Amino acid sequence: MLTEKQEKFEELREKLLAGGGERAVARQHERGKMTARERVYALLDDRSFVETGLFVKHRSTEFEMDKKDAPGDGVITGYGTINGRLVYISAQDFTVIGGSLGEEHAAKIARTQEAALKVGAPMIAINDSGGARIQEGVDALAGYGRIFFNNTQASGVIPQISVIMGPCAGGAVYSPALMDYVFMVDNTSEMFITGPKVVQAVTGEEVSSQDLGGAMTHNSISGVAHYRATNEEDCFSQIRTLLSYLPQNNMERPDALPCDEDPDAKRLELNTVIPEDPAKPYNMLDVITAIADRGEFFQYQEYYATNMLTGYIRLNGEVVAVIANQPRVMAGCLDINASDKAARFVRTCDAFNIPLLTLVDVPGYLPGTQQEYGGIIRHGAKLLYAYSEATVPKVTLITRKAYGGAYIGMCSKHLGGDIVFAWPGAEIAVMGADGAANIIFSKAIRNADDPEKERTAKIKEYEDKMMNPYIAAARGYVDDIILPEDTRQRLISSFDSLKGKRVLTVSKKHGNIPL
Ligand code: HXC
Repeated sequence: MLTEKQEKFEELREKLLAGGGERAVARQHERGKMTARERVYALLDDRSFVETGLFVKHRSTEFEMDKKDAPGDGVITGYGTINGRLVYISAQDFTVIGGSLGEEHAAKIARTQEAALKVGAPMIAINDSGGARIQEGVDALAGYGRIFFNNTQASGVIPQISVIMGPCAGGAVYSPALMDYVFMVDNTSEMFITGPKVVQAVTGEEVSSQDLGGAMTHNSISGVAHYRATNEEDCFSQIRTLLSYLPQNNMERPDALPCDEDPDAKRLELNTVIPEDPAKPYNMLDVITAIADRGEFFQYQEYYATNMLTGYIRLNGEVVAVIANQPRVMAGCLDINASDKAARFVRTCDAFNIPLLTLVDVPGYLPGTQQEYGGIIRHGAKLLYAYSEATVPKVTLITRKAYGGAYIGMCSKHLGGDIVFAWPGAEIAVMGADGAANIIFSKAIRNADDPEKERTAKIKEYEDKMMNPYIAAARGYVDDIILPEDTRQRLISSFDSLKGKRVLTVSKKHGNIPL
C-alpha cells in the first residue's frame, strides 16, 4: 500500500519514463530507430542500468518554453554494466524537443562524464539531437563547451565512445570528434557542420544528407568515424566487442582471456603467403588472421585508408593492437590518410596500455603533388611521433619490403621498437633495386654497349647485395630472422617478455605532435 505522496511520485516517474509520448515514439520507430531508453537497455547488461537525473527540468522561459514538458530534459543519463564491467552512459532522447541540448540537458551529460572520469570507467554517449536548443541561446552553447572541456579532460584517461544514431550537426559534432571511437549506423546517422541546405545556398552543390554526412561517408572518406553498423543492434554488438579489447582506464590493462590454442603451434600456411614475384601483392589480412587467436581481427577504421590495416587481436589470450601495411591496396604505400589513421590508433592504444604489433610491407611514401600539397610531410610525421612517443611494448615484423623513410616510420628499432623480426625474404633498403640501380649506376648503364643488359645486371647486383634482412640484422636493427611458420609462437613469447616493460620519459608539460 503506497501513501498518497508515494503514488504521486510513481505517477510522475511513469510519465517521465514515457519520454516524448506515444506519437513521438511511433515516429522514432517508423524511422528504424530505437528510443533513447530502448537503446540504453539494449546496450547494457539486463537490469544493470541505474538512472541519474530523471527529474531534471529545464529553467528556460523564453518562447513559451515554460509551458513545454521535457521529460529528463531530453537526455537519459546514468551507469550500468557491459559484460559485467561498469560504464557510464548518456543517450539523447529525440522524442523530447528533438533531443535538443539546453543548459540542464548539457549539465546531465557533463555530470555523467565527470562521474565516469572520477571512478575510471568508460563513457558512452549516444547522440540523436537537433543540436543546440535554439530557445536557450547561449546557455545551450555554454553546455556544449562544458562537454567539450570534459571530453578533453577525460582524453587518455578513460575510453570515450561516441555513438551517432540520428542527426548530429553544427558544433555538436565536436564532442564525438574529441572522443576515442565514433560509431555510425547506415541510413540513420548524420554528422555535418552545415547541412545540405546550407551547403547548397553557399556553394551551389547539391548533395543528400547521407552523402554529405552518413555512416559510409565518414567511415570511408573523411575518417571522422571509426566503426560502421548496418543497424542499431549491430552497432551495440560492435561496441560490446570493442570494450572487450579495452581496459577501464589508463591505469589498467585490457583483460586477458583464456586461450585453448597451443602457443607453440606452427602456422605452416604463413610459409607460402608471400608470392615469389616481389611485385605481386598478397593479403596482409591472411597474415593477421593466421597469427591471431581463433583468427579474429576486430578492425578499426576498416573502410578508411585501406592501404593500412589497424585493429585488435588476441595472442594467447592477451590483447594486442595491430598496425599493418596492406600490399593489396596501393602496394601498401604510406599516404596522408594511412599516416593519420595509424598515428591516431597508435596513440589511442598507447594511452590505454595496449601493446603494438606492427607488420611491415611498405615500398615507401606515395609520390605526387596531391600528397605533397596535402602535407604528407606533416601527416607522415605524426606516425613517427606516435611510435616514438609510445611506451607500450612494441614488436615489429617485416614480412617483405621495408624501404626508406617508410621503413623507419613503421616502428623500426630506431623509433623504439623493442623487438624487431624479419622473415627471410624481407628487403630492408633505402629503395627498390630498380630505382637504386638507375641512380647509382646511371653512368655505367649509359656508357655500356648494351645499356638494357647492363641495367638488368646492375639491378641484380644491387638486389643480391642489399635486398635482404641480413645487413639490418648484422647491425642489430633486426633482432632475429624467423621462419614465417614460427611467427605466432615468437610473437607470443616476445609480448610475454615485454610485460614488465617500464619507460622513464622526459618530464615536460606535453609534447607537440605535428597536427
Ligand atoms: C529546439 C528543436 C531543435 C533545436 C529540433 N527541435 N531541433 N527545438 N532546438 N535545435 C524540435 C522541433 O521543433 C520539433 O519540436 C522536434 O524537435 C522534432 O523536430 P522535427 O523538426 O519535427 O524533426 P525532423 O523533421 O526529424 O527534423 C530533425 C532536424 C530538424 C533535422 C534535426 O529538427 C532541424 O533541422 N533542427 C534544427 C537543427 C539545427 O539547426 N540546430 C542547431 C545547430 S547549431 P515539436 O515541438 O514540433 O515536436 C548547433 C550549435 C552547437 O547545434 C554549437 C556547439 C558549440
